[in-house]
Amino acid sequence: MIDKATVAQILDSANIVEVVSDFVSLKRRGSGFVGLCPFHNEKTPSFSVSPARNYCHCFSCGKGGSPVGFMMELEQMSYVEALKYLAQKYHIEVHERELTDKERDEQTERESMLVINEAAGKHFEDNLYNTPDGKEIGLTYFAERGFSAATIKKFRLGYSLDKRNDLYSTLVKQGYNPRYLISTGLCIDDNHGGGFDRFKGRAMFPVMNVAGKIIAFGGRTLKNEPAKYVNSPESVIFKKSRELYGLFQAKQAIVKKGKCFLVEGYADVISMHQAGFDNTVASSGTSLTEGQISMIHRFTENVTVLYDGDAAGIKASLRSIDLLLNEGLNIKVLLLPDGHDPDSFARSHSTSEVQAYIDENETDFIQFKMQILLEGAENDPIKRSAVIQDVVKSIAVIPNAITRSVYTKECASRLNIDESLLVAEIAKVIEHNKKREFERRQREKQGGDPQPPQEPAVAETEVKAAIAPQRSNHDAILYPHERELIRYVVKYGMADFCEAVDDEGNTFALSLLQYVANELSIDRMSFSNRLFAAIFEAAEEAAGQFGDVYNHFYAAIDGEAEQMRLQGIAEIQAMQLTMAEIESHEHELNEKIEAHKAGRIHDFKVNFLEKQLCSSPDDAIREASLQLIYEKHQLSRIHTKYNHLPTETDKLTKLIPEAIYNWKSALLLCQIKDLQQQMPTMSEAEQEQAILRLQELFNIRSELAKYLGDRVVNPKL
Ligand code: CTP
Ligand code: MN
Repeated sequence: MIDKATVAQILDSANIVEVVSDFVSLKRRGSGFVGLCPFHNEKTPSFSVSPARNYCHCFSCGKGGSPVGFMMELEQMSYVEALKYLAQKYHIEVHERELTDKERDEQTERESMLVINEAAGKHFEDNLYNTPDGKEIGLTYFAERGFSAATIKKFRLGYSLDKRNDLYSTLVKQGYNPRYLISTGLCIDDNHGGGFDRFKGRAMFPVMNVAGKIIAFGGRTLKNEPAKYVNSPESVIFKKSRELYGLFQAKQAIVKKGKCFLVEGYADVISMHQAGFDNTVASSGTSLTEGQISMIHRFTENVTVLYDGDAAGIKASLRSIDLLLNEGLNIKVLLLPDGHDPDSFARSHSTSEVQAYIDENETDFIQFKMQILLEGAENDPIKRSAVIQDVVKSIAVIPNAITRSVYTKECASRLNIDESLLVAEIAKVIEHNKKREFERRQREKQGGDPQPPQEPAVAETEVKAAIAPQRSNHDAILYPHERELIRYVVKYGMADFCEAVDDEGNTFALSLLQYVANELSIDRMSFSNRLFAAIFEAAEEAAGQFGDVYNHFYAAIDGEAEQMRLQGIAEIQAMQLTMAEIESHEHELNEKIEAHKAGRIHDFKVNFLEKQLCSSPDDAIREASLQLIYEKHQLSRIHTKYNHLPTETDKLTKLIPEAIYNWKSALLLCQIKDLQQQMPTMSEAEQEQAILRLQELFNIRSELAKYLGDRVVNPKL
């Protein structure tokens, strides 16, 4: 809810070298800096930081980005978290947007629940360390399970006293609203205006969301009770199907190790972390959901599922793993020795033993599945055919065609059937799935609001497709022109472009973006490439924030100029000059300051949009903008008196109109081609009309060409 002007200001202030330096030690190399990549382990630096582009990039693992992108990736922050972090670093006051009443109520409710969970978590920890029962029962239990003091702290384990309403009365006494004790499920309404503790007498495992806020608790019994674990009920802050236990503690390790271990329970996660496998998370007893999977996918593509040795559970969970495949994750499976779960296995072996076991026994999911399903079915043709069908279904949901074909080959040989047969079967299932998906969408549409179907948002995968020219005829013709123009917009959008005169005869400066927008609207043109259209729209939106940020910037520049003036005058005074000399020195000083200001303002304007767009919250826009500004045309930003290189910026007044007219000409060409193609199927009367129209189009085209100083000879009809 940060207001847009502040966002724009943060993006403009963030300097990549300063931001990265807080995490990576950088050495100067050439015009930039290099260091060891924080995203993967390496011994020689392949992480490079470019101050000119305000961008960092690892040449080995490919990660990096703008200051915001870097922080999001590194700390696994959300976009807003990253912005807040940068705001703090640059002492920018964050103005949050006013919330609506409903939003405020919801926010208060959520925040109050988080606050009370935090207080409860502290209370349970406090019980554990500072009460006789906590120490005797709670700590002893954890120690027996082999959890170290550091582990207990890391997971914020605690103890809930074996009293009816210890938590209730303590927190109410501390001034917390009992309403939230009930809504979080920490306590249960006793219908007499009070409440009793849900977790009485249990060892406490706080469940944190990805940002480390306690959203729920699991309480394990220490007696012989039927319910081994009691968990917080679902609430506005706890949606079980979206959370993974341990993700907060594991996220950085998952990114760094490029892999995630998936286990079932609280104890499994904790013991794995303690054994050094700190990239482990749990689905907490439920079968995996799509929400949990997409959560994992934010951090890695590689998941290894750890299974207890007992085969019964395995078959039951095979289905849920198809979900992982469907998400495009690379799934491996590790079957633990009989009688072990990850917790007991990690505790009874050394780290290197566990690692060796993983290395030897990790198997590919599809192979694993075949193996499990084929057991006892090898000689039963009906069962075998069922296995084949099952494996076919799994392969069919893999989104990547190459991965799919690798699996198909392997399975054909493993199942000893003809590969082409398998390919055909898989194709059938894919077709079937597509149809079902289509029907599902149709149903959703009909059930949903009656608005016309909207263009789907630009997906990340479309970036590549859009950046590489498309093959469809018109797209291929228009693409290079649209790309060129959008590149200028991203790179120089806010630069002063030309002067315009308003109705009252006042002149005012038009930015490049405004000029382009005007030109396009006059001829009702718009980008046919959806990604470029999205970038253009984002550029216009960012431009809306320009004024506010510019005012901030201008105030800073004024301060800078004043600083220079004072210093310059002090220097002049120290020189003991004649009055005339002083005057001429002062004149020089003022000119220097004005030139300095002009240079800074020019740079500010030129860089503004590129900084905003390369930090867009939309992944597709962010990546495409980075690619666009990366282009070979590297500009020199040197503006000294002695060394003025002609740059692209200087030529913009010629380049932009050219780009627009080239695009228009290409549009005309498309129309011409369309007409020519349709001619053979037309009636004679229509053909006559078409010929006239064609003539007209050719004429417009040659008018345009004249404008460009590049005469085109029209082909004969
Ligand atoms: N679980 C639960 N409620 C239960 C049983 C299990 O929520 N009544 C969840 C817990 O997250 C638990 C996981 O399912 O960690 C796995 O269950 P189980 O294997 O029975 O528990 P363990 O983690 O092995 O528990 P422990 O080692 O403490 O006995
Ligand atoms: Mn266990």
